[in-house]
Amino acid sequence: MYHYSYIKVFAPATVANVASGFDVLGFALEKPGDTVELTVKQEKRVRIVKITGDKGVLPFDTKKNTAAVAVEAFLKSINYPFGIDIVLHKQMPLSSGLGSSAASSVAAVFGANILADDPLKKNELLDFTMQAEKAACGAAHGDNTAPSLLGGFVLIRSYKPLDVIKLPVPEGLSCVVAHPHTEVNTGDARKILKKEVSLSKAISQWGNLAALVAALYENDLSLLGRSLMDVIVEPVRSLLIPGFNRVKAAALETGALGCSISGSGPSVFALCANMNSAQKVGSAMEESFKEAGLECDLYVSMVNKKGPLLLEKK
Ligand code: HSE
Repeated sequence: MYHYSYIKVFAPATVANVASGFDVLGFALEKPGDTVELTVKQEKRVRIVKITGDKGVLPFDTKKNTAAVAVEAFLKSINYPFGIDIVLHKQMPLSSGLGSSAASSVAAVFGANILADDPLKKNELLDFTMQAEKAACGAAHGDNTAPSLLGGFVLIRSYKPLDVIKLPVPEGLSCVVAHPHTEVNTGDARKILKKEVSLSKAISQWGNLAALVAALYENDLSLLGRSLMDVIVEPVRSLLIPGFNRVKAAALETGALGCSISGSGPSVFALCANMNSAQKVGSAMEESFKEAGLECDLYVSMVNKKGPLLLEKK
């Protein structure tokens, strides 16, 4: 009745917030990311049957595992008559600020939609991935899942109703993410934020966010660099990242357009004009983290314009 009974899908890591766009802006990376394998089963239930690469940390409980939460909600919404077994291959660090939970739910729900013969469009899958984020960290934010699913830069104008806008990506725009070997839990990193913002800070923040969007449309890298500024969240969360100020200064000194915290941290990202520059900036960031006593992994890639990738189907 359906075309496929097995599918393997990759979904990319993401940088959420992008300095001034807390909870409303994110972009996708080429790497790292997660891979999932989905197999159709007669028994009408979703199961996580295997997880690799997580050092035994992730839950198999389908109410807590983001891949399962998203797939369960999706299958229910389309009244799919079968069940699905999920194998999750974590190929990126957890609690790193790279949208790890989002990559899992996006890969899983994107694959499940193909197994069901594509009843929904990509952007109609977003809501299921946000339900999964809520299960993971208590907040249904979509600034990781939307770019992982749609690729490129994605702006969330409104959550209720959901209004998501894909933005252009300047040619060659590259990113380096330095992931220091320490963990920050997203839920905790949200709790430490103040609930109120002064008008003067709000003015600075929305000026920068609007200019950032303009820079993407205008292909204006100088404006993009000037706009990568966050006066609300970064000053608070950077305290959780040893050496942050030094790492950021090193990135800017070696030619990054801008630099800030990736998602809720502890990873730090820098946007660069091209891959060469991103490599150079990455080495300087790594060196600075070392000076602060932290080893780090570097991920250097172009901004990913495509989102999830179908690897295999049968
Ligand atoms: N916008 C979210 C936050 C992203 O900063 O809490 C989490 O990766």
